[in-house]
Formats: sequence, C-alpha cells, structure tokens
Amino acid sequence: MYDKIKETTRFLLDIGIDKAQVGIVLGTGLGGIVNMIKIEKKIPYHDIPNFPVSTVSGHSGTLIYGELSGKKVVAMQGRFHYYEGWEMSEVTFPIRVMKFLGIETLIVSNACGGVNPDFKVGDVMIIRDHINMMPEHPLRGENEDRFGPRFVDMHEPYSLKMIELMKKIAAEKGIEVQEGVYLALQGPTFETPAEYRMVKLVGADAVGMSTVPEVIVAKHMNMECFGLSVITDLGIEGKVEEVSHEAVQIAAKSSEKKISTLVEDFIEKLKLRK
Ligand code: HPA
Repeated sequence: MYDKIKETTRFLLDIGIDKAQVGIVLGTGLGGIVNMIKIEKKIPYHDIPNFPVSTVSGHSGTLIYGELSGKKVVAMQGRFHYYEGWEMSEVTFPIRVMKFLGIETLIVSNACGGVNPDFKVGDVMIIRDHINMMPEHPLRGENEDRFGPRFVDMHEPYSLKMIELMKKIAAEKGIEVQEGVYLALQGPTFETPAEYRMVKLVGADAVGMSTVPEVIVAKHMNMECFGLSVITDLGIEGKVEEVSHEAVQIAAKSSEKKISTLVEDFIEKLKLRK
C-alpha cells in the first residue's frame, strides 16, 4: 500500500503536479467548481498508476491540477464509493496520495438527503461533524505508522476555523447556509422512511453514501478538513419523497452556482498551515 502510494505520487510529481496546496473532492453535480480552476493538468484516472476507475454515471473520473483563487489545487472529478465494490483502501487511496503530494487541506463535497425539518432541497450544509455508520472502517487492520497513529483523534473532524470562515463568507454574500451532522451509510439504496427516522434519531441532519471514509483517512494523515453538502432530497418523517439518481443530480446542479461562488472566495481567504 505504502509503495503504491509512493509510486502514484512519484508519477504525479514527475508530470508537474508538484506545488499542490489544497485537495478537493467534487461530489455529485458539484463539478461546476472545475470551471473556475485555471487548469494546468487534466489526467483521466485510468492513466494514473494504481488509481481505481469509477463507474457510476455522473462521476467522470479525472484528476485536475491547477490554480483556483490563487492557490494550487488538486481536484478529484469523480470519487470512489464503497457501494461500487471498492475496498476502503481504494476509496481513500487518492486522499493518501494528496497528502504525499504535500497537501495539508482537504475540501470534500457531496449530495445528500436532509432529515432536519428546517432544511429545503437545494440548501447547502456545512458539515460540522459526522457519524460513521458504514459497515467497514478504512483504518481497520494493521496500522501503517508512516501514514499516522493507530488511534486517531477525531475531536475536530472538520476544521472549526474553516467552518467559521465559510459562515462569514456566506453572511457577507447573503447566501443562506445550513450547518449540521452528516451520517454515512453504505447505500446504494436510498433510505426507507424508517431509516431516515433512525438517521434523525441518532443525531444527524443529513445522510449520504460517501465522504466519511475520505475524512477519516485525511485525519489519520493529520490533514485539515472542510465539507459541504447539498441537500438534494428530504427524508422528513411523514413526508419522505421519492428520490432518484437523476433527481439528485438535478438538485445538486441547481445549487452549483451558489457553491462555486462560496468556494471561490473561501479558497482565496483560506490561511493554510504552510
Ligand atoms: N440518501 C443517501 N444518499 C443520498 C441521498 C439520500 O437521501 N441523496 C443524495 N445522496
């Protein structure tokens, strides 16, 4: 595993991805952020040694390197989901590579179902915390000490400093943002009404099928994380709506502009660790 990550990192460094500062994982329908990047390199996953190749429609599978708001970013256009059949080590492989490229700051995004009755479809939610209810843990097994410690501190999974910055930017721009807890389930089924109820009862505001393994691995490697969710459908008790992948993509797309505006300013104002 360590050697594979080194090999992939070497490949990317050799083709000129050698000044990366911020990693971005673009979730369903949030690909619009790519249009704001001054692209220097665009590499299909299948051309990157050891990279898995994603299969779900709407996840195109390209690694982008370039400048966004004055910072060098590596963006994953398309992520790997556990429900696709990837091992957790594959789902999180690119995050480890990002860290080895020198990235200390990770921004993740996703589409998810809202269970907080104050939420509306199209809302943007800052992820304040998460609950991991996936059936497998990305750090299970022998610990690789060169990545991080056996027992990982998770007292601040999402950087409070970054959350405050985003809230300030949203307020300045007059864009409404929600804040909440994201709960990860395996999928690929959307939740039953009883499952949405469970999600709410255990203390979450939204539910989805990604992000948490990536953030766990990023924390293992001592990265600072920030996450944004688009609420694409609602699982509110008594009025759980029908949901489809297409509807999720359309709803995510409708919030793309709002998110792009926020992220552009956010990256510009972000104070990096180094
Ligand atoms: N549940 C899980 N994942 C999702 C949902 C949902 O309701 N909406 C978009 N992704």
